[in-house]
Amino acid sequence: MMLCEDIKTAKVQFNTDIKTCNSEQELQKLQIKYLGRKTGILTNFFKQLPTVAQEERPAVGQLINELKMYITDNLEVKKQELASQAEQLSTIDLTLPGRAVFSGKLHPLTIILNEIVSVLEGMGFEVATGPDIETDYYNFEALNIPENHPARELQDTFYLNNGKLLRTHTSPVQIRVMEKHKPPIRIIAPGRVFRKDTPDATHSPVFHQVEGLYINKDVTLAELKGTLLAFARAMFGPKMYIRFRSGFFPFTEPSVEYDFTCVLCNGKGCSICKGTGWLEISGAGMVDPAVFKFVNYDSEKYTGYAWGMGVERIAILKYQISDIRLFYENDVRFLEQFI
Ligand code: PHE
Repeated sequence: MMLCEDIKTAKVQFNTDIKTCNSEQELQKLQIKYLGRKTGILTNFFKQLPTVAQEERPAVGQLINELKMYITDNLEVKKQELASQAEQLSTIDLTLPGRAVFSGKLHPLTIILNEIVSVLEGMGFEVATGPDIETDYYNFEALNIPENHPARELQDTFYLNNGKLLRTHTSPVQIRVMEKHKPPIRIIAPGRVFRKDTPDATHSPVFHQVEGLYINKDVTLAELKGTLLAFARAMFGPKMYIRFRSGFFPFTEPSVEYDFTCVLCNGKGCSICKGTGWLEISGAGMVDPAVFKFVNYDSEKYTGYAWGMGVERIAILKYQISDIRLFYENDVRFLEQFI
């Protein structure tokens, strides 16, 4: 029967109409469209009712009534929905400033490490890496550190159950690179190192080093000094000087300890440099021929220099930080100060 079909279609049509209705005004239009007294769709259905066969009239009449109720109810629900939306909007203060979006930042050690690496890459050094978990051979033996050397002591080194250890410096990367490559070699090896130190303002059981190694024919100690001076000036400015003091490392001969001009007082002498005008950085030297033996390099033909460098130490000087532990505590009030 035609009218029954029309009633069904009207319901489907209403469902889509109500879904897309987004304002009070649109809602009113729907009300008129379906329930309007003169031309409303439902009114029209009621008007057609007399044309329906008498015995079917009650059932069709009920259908129209049901649809009328359905539409009335749904219009009411929608009306309330729109009202509560409007209320919500009116309680939002659209003039309030937005919430700050925090962007991630690089860790100060990462910033300094990137800077160190880019300065040294600019001087022709290539980055090499080695594992944090090392063997006794690479960490000690091939670096000419004898069995009874204090550096091997249990109290300094983290030994693992499998006979391996956590590297105590980045120098084992020297051996790994020399084993694989023939001279000339010009590498830096940045990485994490581990020592059994009790944490305090100047000690941490984990810290970072950048190793440097240059091997070629006729390499001299003066070139090492020139390299470190150029590095110091690139990092801290043109007023920097460096000085060598004699030192000892089993894998370099001669060995030196090197200092930078105190960055706080420009060498005049202050409480940080204990009046000397100098700050200790790390150790360096000419690669010991005994090390060349382990990697089958001819020490008659080649010489080379190597140095170590503490990343935390450089960061502390650059940012004038008083406590190394700040780097590892992840306090955002500290971390967010670095760009
Ligand atoms: N490996 C030494 C240390 O950790 C530093 C060093 C590196 C010294 C290279 C000489 C040559 O203290």
